[in-house]
Amino acid sequence: MTIAQKEIFLKDYTVPPHLLDEVHLRFELDPQQTRVHSTLICRPNSDANQPLRLNGEHLTLEKVVLEGSALKEGEYTFSDGILEICEVPDKVFTIEITTLINPSANTALEGLYLSSGNYCTQCEAEGFRRITCFPDRPDVMSVFTTTIVADKTTCPVLLSNGNLIESGTLEDGRHFATWNDPFKKPSYLFALVAGNLVSIDDEFTTVSGRTIELRIFVEEKNKEKCAHAMASLKKSMQWDEQVFGREYDLDTFMIVAVDDFNMGAMENKGLNVFNSKYVLATPETATDNDFDGIEGVIGHEYFHNWTGNRITCRDWFQLSLKEGLTVFRDQEFSSDMGSRAVKRIQDVNIIRSLQFREDGGPMAHPVRPASFVEINNFYTLTVYNKGAEVIRMMHTLLGAQGFRKGMDLYFERHDGQAVTCDDFVQAMEDANSFDLGQFKNWYSQAGTPKLEVTTSFDDAKKQFTVHVEQSCPPTPEATEKKPFFMPLCIGLLDKQGKVLTPQAASGELADEAGTVVLPLSKEKQDLVFTGLEQEPVLSFLRNFSAPVLVDFQRSPKELAFLMAHDPDPFNRWDAAQELSLACILEQIDEYSPEKKVSVAPILIEGIKALLEDTVSDPALLAMALILPSENWISQQLEVVDPVIVFSVRNQFREQVARELAPLFEKRYKSLQTDNPYQYETRQVGERALKNCCLGYLLANKTDGTINTGLEQYNTSDNMTDTMAALQSVVNADREQGDTLLADFYNKWHQDPLVMDKWLILQATCILPGTLERVRNLMEHEVFSLKNPNKVRSLIGAFCSANHAQFHAADGKGYAFLGDIILTLDPLNPQIAARLATPLTQWRRYDVARQELIKQQLKRLQDTPTLSGDVGEIVNRSLQQ
Ligand code: TRP
Ligand code: ZN
Repeated sequence: MTIAQKEIFLKDYTVPPHLLDEVHLRFELDPQQTRVHSTLICRPNSDANQPLRLNGEHLTLEKVVLEGSALKEGEYTFSDGILEICEVPDKVFTIEITTLINPSANTALEGLYLSSGNYCTQCEAEGFRRITCFPDRPDVMSVFTTTIVADKTTCPVLLSNGNLIESGTLEDGRHFATWNDPFKKPSYLFALVAGNLVSIDDEFTTVSGRTIELRIFVEEKNKEKCAHAMASLKKSMQWDEQVFGREYDLDTFMIVAVDDFNMGAMENKGLNVFNSKYVLATPETATDNDFDGIEGVIGHEYFHNWTGNRITCRDWFQLSLKEGLTVFRDQEFSSDMGSRAVKRIQDVNIIRSLQFREDGGPMAHPVRPASFVEINNFYTLTVYNKGAEVIRMMHTLLGAQGFRKGMDLYFERHDGQAVTCDDFVQAMEDANSFDLGQFKNWYSQAGTPKLEVTTSFDDAKKQFTVHVEQSCPPTPEATEKKPFFMPLCIGLLDKQGKVLTPQAASGELADEAGTVVLPLSKEKQDLVFTGLEQEPVLSFLRNFSAPVLVDFQRSPKELAFLMAHDPDPFNRWDAAQELSLACILEQIDEYSPEKKVSVAPILIEGIKALLEDTVSDPALLAMALILPSENWISQQLEVVDPVIVFSVRNQFREQVARELAPLFEKRYKSLQTDNPYQYETRQVGERALKNCCLGYLLANKTDGTINTGLEQYNTSDNMTDTMAALQSVVNADREQGDTLLADFYNKWHQDPLVMDKWLILQATCILPGTLERVRNLMEHEVFSLKNPNKVRSLIGAFCSANHAQFHAADGKGYAFLGDIILTLDPLNPQIAARLATPLTQWRRYDVARQELIKQQLKRLQDTPTLSGDVGEIVNRSLQQ
């Protein structure tokens, strides 16, 4: 059977029939029976006298009181998630509601739930309706006053948004705290935290001289692990003042770390709730990557205070208004804190490997979706990361100053409002007198545009022409696409590698690095450069100036030339990627199990040059040494056999490792250091390069190289080097790997975040037999299906990162995932739906695999109790 699903559409938007002047909440906390009293001061929002409709789900409605008198049965209805009261006054009125909820039974982690015995909430997107009946939509904003009542010994800490205005002791060992948030906000930004927590306190003085109290709340055992998060928070606050002129508005900013969380973190006003993965770190327990992630996510949530909270979304179709913009802001923040080029490469890898794949599959949707069934399914790479690329393109088109003017106007116009993506673009247009009409196609059309590029040179006219033709494949919402408007960043070099300063015939000039920004708007367009003595070498789409695929035939020689000479670090890296991609694709094309994979000499030369390069940033060299991902390789193929893709890429890696073994060893040794660990840009880059070399060394499995891995594992004083060594050994040698895994477990079994790493390592192990090991680990005491981090680390990692074994031809990987989704769905549908992502891609594979994957999708579809979350993904995947 097909599950009935209610699809809602952007075009059906209507203004809320009632607004709220005030919200007063009172929570009487109890693990099984929490009582919530809410008083809403409502105001009709139209002349027509409309019924009052409030959302309410997964709760018991105890009492409804309208203007002081309790409503009797028949005076209201409560069904299908809606509390409806037909007769309400056509002037301001008060309604009081009492609900009963059960936090301890809340495994969906939406609404009010318990994590490690502490109460916390997650209300975005539609979790508030699991707490009380409420107009749970982002365009209804109000001032919240919240009283929390709880047992004093189990819940010494009582937190909510805004300022603490009152607290005191009650009888029966209880106490209370009342919080008031003076800023109007939608319900999705509400938060409550209560429990046995300690705080790490600091302060920040704003540009205008106000002192802000900063508090990070964690479990007692974690209080030594907050220094990096606190430092990141202070940097974020300062950066937003310097770069965007945005000052913090409340007197206190609080962060709470919890172990059970569906996503990364949540920007609740003045009280951010974080997955502990993005707060807790010490050099001994967290890798450089984790440190990066914490800095980025702390920044992201903090930046939401202006882009998301002060100005919020009118409806959930506008999600990218806050998420695309805030991702752009956190990317810029991280670029300013560390290496800009490295950050750009990492972000582009996400777009190409994951967002392009989403854009080419059945879940493809525009940055501003036109419809959805379950909004939780639209917190996607498209809304977040492609959304950020769309913002970045405006930044490129308008320049940093023009963009800032647009942002200033946006804040000035819309502070305190719930607005749309159109409003944002309008502010950019008005501040710059720049027409972004066609540009808005990026918001309404899904799919990845492709640019076909050719060049020609006219000796007589000394003119170089770049011919560009854009197209975009059909996606579920539209078959015909209007052309996109995008900035193309272009540079030219002469044949000796000298940077030219090209002049576009259309008038645009080059910057110091020789980059010209040219707008592309037509389906077919010629970009003409004048005044050139000889035919130049083209450096196209510098810094990935638009989220597109490029089809531009270039010889390996030309790519190697750009790899060596392009002044744009991103394009230097990109040329290296394209060169290895071309070589790998050729080998896949010629693949047979008997034939040995060979690496083209020009590529070996290129890699050799990287290893001998002592001038460039080590972090960039490390990025250039990493081969294109299996995801990215697979997207170039008509029909994917993941086992072949893995095998060729892996053999390729082994071959490179063998041919350049002495160089890898030399570079590895040269990066050995006695300096104590510090999370600091230069060190991070050097460790990345060192550990990349170690990976290659161990890909070449000799006793000597394994010993190098063991040696690093045994002497390391930080988790970055420990994990790199452990990973290399685990993937090279079963026995030695198991010994180290046991040792690692003994050392760290009490630290859940470190245990996540232990699980990921085993789930992504390339040696055969991993599925069986994953199954066994599900029985292990550190694993729990109720903890999203554990599910992602073991099952998510296996199904989305261990391509060869998840896609084993016998279909056992698919059946395994089908089983897990069915078990997890009743507990946590949001996580179950996310886990299903690999199944959505079935069309990419050979017929045999297609059938096996479809079998699992149909099995899910035939489950009558399936959630709307998983149902939407499954139905869209099977639609023709
Ligand atoms: N707004 C959050 C962010 O991007 C995302 C988020 C956190 C979320 N938890 C969630 C979205 C739960 C949906 C459901 O920072
Ligand atoms: Zn966000």
